[in-house]
Amino acid sequence: YLSKRIVVLPGDGVGPEVCGEAVRVLKAVAERFGHRFTFDYRLMGACAIDATGSPLPEATLDACHQADAVLLGAIGDPKYDNNPSAKVRPEQGLLALRKSLGLYANIRPVTAYEQLLEFSPLRPERIAGTDLLIFRELTGGVYFGEKGRTPDGTAFDHCTYNREEITRIAHRAFRAAQGRRQQLTLVDKANVLETSRLWREVVQGIAPDYPEVAVDYLFVDNAAMQLILNPRQFDVILTENMFGDILSDEASVIAGSLGLLPSASLGDGAGLFEPVHGSYPQAKGKGIANPIAAILSAAMMLEYFGLPDEARAVRAAVENALSEEVLTPELSPGASYTTEQVGSFIAYGVLDLMDCHLHRSN
Ligand code: IPM
Ligand code: MN
Repeated sequence: YLSKRIVVLPGDGVGPEVCGEAVRVLKAVAERFGHRFTFDYRLMGACAIDATGSPLPEATLDACHQADAVLLGAIGDPKYDNNPSAKVRPEQGLLALRKSLGLYANIRPVTAYEQLLEFSPLRPERIAGTDLLIFRELTGGVYFGEKGRTPDGTAFDHCTYNREEITRIAHRAFRAAQGRRQQLTLVDKANVLETSRLWREVVQGIAPDYPEVAVDYLFVDNAAMQLILNPRQFDVILTENMFGDILSDEASVIAGSLGLLPSASLGDGAGLFEPVHGSYPQAKGKGIANPIAAILSAAMMLEYFGLPDEARAVRAAVENALSEEVLTPELSPGASYTTEQVGSFIAYGVLDLMDCHLHRSN
């Protein structure tokens, strides 16, 4: 039985609500399987700016460095989005945390759940059977290059990558492909960008180490189209930071809702687990946010702890919620459940208390 220290960063908007449900499910896992998880709540994002002036206070960063894993809700607030001249922004906290923990590999699984095929705006026959993994590089590229304004008022954001930054995530993506359908697609813009040409060069150099993995290369504009046209063609997608950010939101349409997509950010130190979605400020406090992305992120955390049975129990409970149509309103506007009801249903499922049925709230 394991003992793990988990730092929880609920963040902003619906972050605290979805995090609360992920913690509920982790507590159910601890109870059912006899583990000991402790939860240490810290400030990050807009809430941290309000309380301390900094989006990533020293105490939060220290706690994350000492944790076994970090669970993050979401960060961001419209009062910063609508103010381009704000000097301090919530996103700076997240980016600094990723960098400081060395979380260079962001893994975003995308699944077209059988139960939800009808909920996607895409045709069911087109998306059925989709099961892909996006490996998004997370600590380089245009997000972290030099940025600023020149004296004449021109703005710039430099995009840089070195061999080492590409090599380390490429090996992880190849290893993931080995354990899946042995197919890796590098998405880049090598017809235009020098950084993309380096990505191709490095990946071509590594490919012979993984002879069983078939590698192909797609330009990002084409990939954006292929992802919607024929998502089943993909197994592992490897890409740089910003392309991965954009393609993963696009891919969520295949799953049926951005509220279903989890992610794991891995690297040198403790892993960080967070939903792909943002802070969804319009929904804050309404109990309508889908907690499944956060809960599946917790399942990825269990996998990371080396607890595959526990992760499977969480996923099975999630799938059961989908089958029983215990869904939040973005998926089921007519007859929906609250964030807390969905979380509780899944936690009951983990505890094997499935006979404790919930009744529809409306
Ligand atoms: C994500 C988010 C972040 C990103 C923002 C909040 C900085 O969109 O995790 O996908 O762009 O990486
Ligand atoms: Mn994003």
